[in-house]
Amino acid sequence: MSTLKAQVFLDTERTLAPISPLLFGGFAEHMGRCIYEGIYDPASPHADARGLRTDVIAALREQAYTVIRYPGGNFLSGYNWLDGVGPKEQRPRRRELAWQSLETNQFGTNEFVEFCAAIDAAPMLGVNMGTGDIQSAANLVDYCNTPGGTYWSDLRASHGYPTPHNVRYWCVGNEMDGPWQIGHLDAVAYGNKALEAAKMMKWLDPTIKTVLCGSSSDGMPTYPDWDRTVLEIAWEAMDYHSMHYYAGNRANDTASYLASAVTFERFVDTLEGTLRYVKAKRRSTHDVYLSWDEWQVWYKGDPLQGNWTEAPHLAEEIYNLEDALVVAQWLNVFLRKSHVLKIACVAQIVNVISWLHTRRDALLKQPSFYVFQQVSNLARGNALDVFVKAPPVETPQYGAVPALDVSASFDPETQKTAIFLVNRSQTETVSTNIVWQSAAPRQIAGVTQLTGPDVKATNTYEHPDAVVPHPVAGVQMDGNTLSLALPPLSFTVVSA
Ligand code: AHR
Repeated sequence: MSTLKAQVFLDTERTLAPISPLLFGGFAEHMGRCIYEGIYDPASPHADARGLRTDVIAALREQAYTVIRYPGGNFLSGYNWLDGVGPKEQRPRRRELAWQSLETNQFGTNEFVEFCAAIDAAPMLGVNMGTGDIQSAANLVDYCNTPGGTYWSDLRASHGYPTPHNVRYWCVGNEMDGPWQIGHLDAVAYGNKALEAAKMMKWLDPTIKTVLCGSSSDGMPTYPDWDRTVLEIAWEAMDYHSMHYYAGNRANDTASYLASAVTFERFVDTLEGTLRYVKAKRRSTHDVYLSWDEWQVWYKGDPLQGNWTEAPHLAEEIYNLEDALVVAQWLNVFLRKSHVLKIACVAQIVNVISWLHTRRDALLKQPSFYVFQQVSNLARGNALDVFVKAPPVETPQYGAVPALDVSASFDPETQKTAIFLVNRSQTETVSTNIVWQSAAPRQIAGVTQLTGPDVKATNTYEHPDAVVPHPVAGVQMDGNTLSLALPPLSFTVVSA
């Protein structure tokens, strides 16, 4: 084993953009055991009087989520939101087509808003653009946000919620480019429907912010024409354009997988170009930003169909060290693209494609849980334009990529800096000098590393701390420089 050398240059004045707090969002869908047995589980010893899992709430609070998107996902496109409000004993049980499960509707819009309050996150609701019409979308805004004195707001009050929910963020459909979507539309049909829905929704509440469905991934045959077309039609009525992407190491090509940030950045760059093109073409003064409202590692092949059962085990991915290092890069990309990326929601927050798993009486935090927790709690203020000089590592898919993937933040109010560094090399320690080109901190508040020799290592209920961040002792500034040894396959967090 040899030691490679790298330098990371920081200047707290050399900023990219303010970091949107909404980059640390999550997604909760009526799929598998995300809602039922994840968030809501009256049979759990950890449930509160409302049936919400207090241990799950505590774990989500540790992760400092700022916004939660709900109720889907593919589920959204067959969902009648009226099924999920009002007295629970009168709510219908239905066959749910997206995941072929049995939906009891014991958890719905009002319970979701209460759950968001419990974790101190803003709700982000979706309106159904599959089987739903634009009237039903508008009715939901009226139900949630009108203070009172209308049919829909009075119905909300009669359900026990006299105070309006004031839901600010609204997704106008989900993945409408996908043939798998219930009520899938082509780009022109969806663009027109989304425009008309958003018009009505904003007439009812002009303070809301709307999210247009972008491509379901950069692998869609209609990408990026879908994005251009729907944006050209609905531009003025939209505030955000969605991106979805799931990463994976299907070929067991770890070198390429650990360079996933290249794909993430390309995806953002292409859509940023599309936004600029459409804004120019429309001669618009309005801006639309990106909302990466589904992102996660997902490829290990758990079932996706529930055989018409309640809360089936679907897509309960087990994440390992390499997955955590990919998540760390994803978050680095969010910071590096913070000028255009303003919302991001990890899919999903518990059990389904999630780093947090539940049993009826226990919780398991997988390695990437800690990566998200650290970044969401520390990245504040402005993203910095970091200059990285790092040796290359070779990858089959991308050729040579830098061994280090880095982002950093500086908060002018608190004067706090956070630096996030991934060493993608599978074999080499990278001896790294972090050099402050502006006033350097006198001391380092803390350094942690999440790493290990086995890229496939994970946490289990029996060994929950196998892959967790550990403090690095004896770290000191030398003038304007901090020297760190970054082990192979590691995520290092510096706070100063
Ligand atoms: O998050 C799981 C599913 O992935 C969502 O329902 C859908 O939007 C995407 O394809």
